[in-house]
Amino acid sequence: MANAYLDLLAYFGIGGAHPGGFDLTQSILGDENIQRTESVLDIGCGTGQTAAFLAEKFDCQVTAVDNHPIMIEKAKQRFANTNFNVSVVEGDVQRLDFVDNSFDLILAESVIAFTSISKTLNELVRVLKSDGRMIMIEMTAEQTLSEELQEKVCSLYGIQEVLTEVQWKSKLQEAGFTKVHIINTPSELTPSEINDINQSENIHMDLFDLLDKHNHFLRQYGHLTGYRVFRCQLH
Ligand SMILES: C[S@@+](CC[C@H](N)C(=O)[O-])C[C@H]1O[C@@H](n2cnc3c(N)ncnc32)[C@H](O)[C@@H]1O
Repeated sequence: MANAYLDLLAYFGIGGAHPGGFDLTQSILGDENIQRTESVLDIGCGTGQTAAFLAEKFDCQVTAVDNHPIMIEKAKQRFANTNFNVSVVEGDVQRLDFVDNSFDLILAESVIAFTSISKTLNELVRVLKSDGRMIMIEMTAEQTLSEELQEKVCSLYGIQEVLTEVQWKSKLQEAGFTKVHIINTPSELTPSEINDINQSENIHMDLFDLLDKHNHFLRQYGHLTGYRVFRCQLH
């Protein structure tokens, strides 16, 4: 289904397009003991910044999946002249083309909210090894949002619902994750400038308008939404 906000990220080619940005990614993954032999799945990989970081820093096997053709094209460009162990695959995270128990680590940076949440979580549980772990960064409502505000956020991002931390935990538990922890975000971490950009040549004016609308929304209501980093295990 078309999503104008995701088109915006794709055409502007914004890397680290999740709350906390690439600084947060580096901080979380720096604390994760990722081995060379491990297989890592980066779902909704966007233009592949995190996948590149994983491959470079840990030399692990990375599979990066996205269903947006422009994101996939830009991710493939990123890896074209490298010998990183990254396989870029176009696919829908709600119906992954991998056998059960395939991955040691799944990473989802601001992706699951854009999908049918329970369907995606069930699929991730299927492809995660039973002793594996999943790390996800997701937008949260910091308080119960009025119906009007829910609608505003959902229509801006093209999503179905904005969950609170408690609601995310309950969806994760329903899907089969028995251990769900919140990773504390380092207090010294301030969002960095976005400096990983691969902009397309012809961008429709509508996407510039949407960018303005998004910035305006953040100024007005940004404090009502936040994010959490969840670390989840099946056992
Ligand atoms: C907010 S962007 C985040 C991109 C990347 N994870 C990052 O942090 O820069 C969300 C990404 O999820 C992808 N996505 C959304 N729904 C998807 C689906 N059903 N299957 C695969 N990818 C999806 C979008 O195309 C987009 O690249």
